[in-house]
Amino acid sequence: MTPLPEIRGATITGTGMYVPDRVLSNADLEKMVDTSDEWIVERTGIRERRMAAPDQASSDLALIAAERALAMAGIGPGDLDQIIVATTTPDRVLPSCACTLQQKLGAHRAAAYDMFAACTGFVYGLGLARGLIGAGVADNVLLVGVETLTRIVDFTDRNTCVLFGDGAGAAVLRPCKPGEGVLGVHMQSDGELGDVLEVPAGGSREPASADTVRARRHYIGMHGKKLFPFAVRSMEESLRKVIGQAGWNAEDLDLVIPHQANLRIIEAVRERLDTPNDRMVVNIERYGNTSSASIPIALDEAVRAGRLKPGDGVGFAAFGGGATWGGSVMRWTIPLETALTDGVPAAAAQDAGA
Ligand code: ACO
Repeated sequence: MTPLPEIRGATITGTGMYVPDRVLSNADLEKMVDTSDEWIVERTGIRERRMAAPDQASSDLALIAAERALAMAGIGPGDLDQIIVATTTPDRVLPSCACTLQQKLGAHRAAAYDMFAACTGFVYGLGLARGLIGAGVADNVLLVGVETLTRIVDFTDRNTCVLFGDGAGAAVLRPCKPGEGVLGVHMQSDGELGDVLEVPAGGSREPASADTVRARRHYIGMHGKKLFPFAVRSMEESLRKVIGQAGWNAEDLDLVIPHQANLRIIEAVRERLDTPNDRMVVNIERYGNTSSASIPIALDEAVRAGRLKPGDGVGFAAFGGGATWGGSVMRWTIPLETALTDGVPAAAAQDAGA
């Protein structure tokens, strides 16, 4: 791929995350469907996932993650020019989750809208934010990945209910010098693969009706076996493209943050890129697949654990329904002391947000 043109750069200046308190363990799922902790851990790497409380919608999770990211970035809601929320599970079809979040934050100056790209949403959002900031359209962009997937998971279907969880992650992006921040962006889709992961009803094709509810057509349906090789191929391809775009080699990546869909998928990508184990961020055992939230949650945990320092190379890669896939590389810029002291440290923040 050709290098991105030398325009004003864009970098992440703050990150935040939030997951609901309620833990849904593999043992809990054993009581609901014909499955076992052994099968789930061996085939997916997942041990537990989080579940939003009945009164929590996606914007409630997003709000806490966003406030934490803004605190680390040292800016207020009133400074925001754009709010992009990547989600497949907005509070309502109308208005957007981003507008609801805008209202809760009191970010009155911002344009707010949702990014509907399934698990690739946060990576697409990084590309979009980079473009908006680079072109001078925006200075301060809040990018959130949030899901309440347990609301659209069929807890009688063992093929899907063991995989997904709820959570939110956020990042604030601001201008930076060329050569820093986001240095590579790859975004791609293939609508031919639309039926491998879908929620069939509830849109204009099959509006909600008593029949669609009875037939359980408002839940996620998935062909896991078809997705597996596509996931490995597409994440490897995206990472190689963005590494090349930045003029780097795979060894220049100090940290790789892949979408957390299946530990075996992450491991296969790691092997193909020959990335050392300790450079791969993995937290799927605690949260399952949180779709568009998985990368920003993993990023915030890595940032607050001090795993990224200025000058480090960090890579992101994701794939998801649509089908969509993409990647990004960044030259990291947040000083360690800001990451470790500004805002609230991850573990304490989790308790505080509970
Ligand atoms: N517990 C026990 N057995 C199960 C379970 C379960 N929870 N789920 C499926 N099985 C059974 C199947 O019925 C099948 O039984 P059969 O051989 O008698 O038919 C057997 O286990 C093996 O099933 P496979 O589909 O071959 O299992 P596989 O090793 O492919 O793992 C999985 C399934 C985990 C879904 C895997 O294919 C995968 O991770 N695919 C990618 C899925 C994905 O990434 N989805 C999200 C992508 S996009 C997004 O993130 C929103």
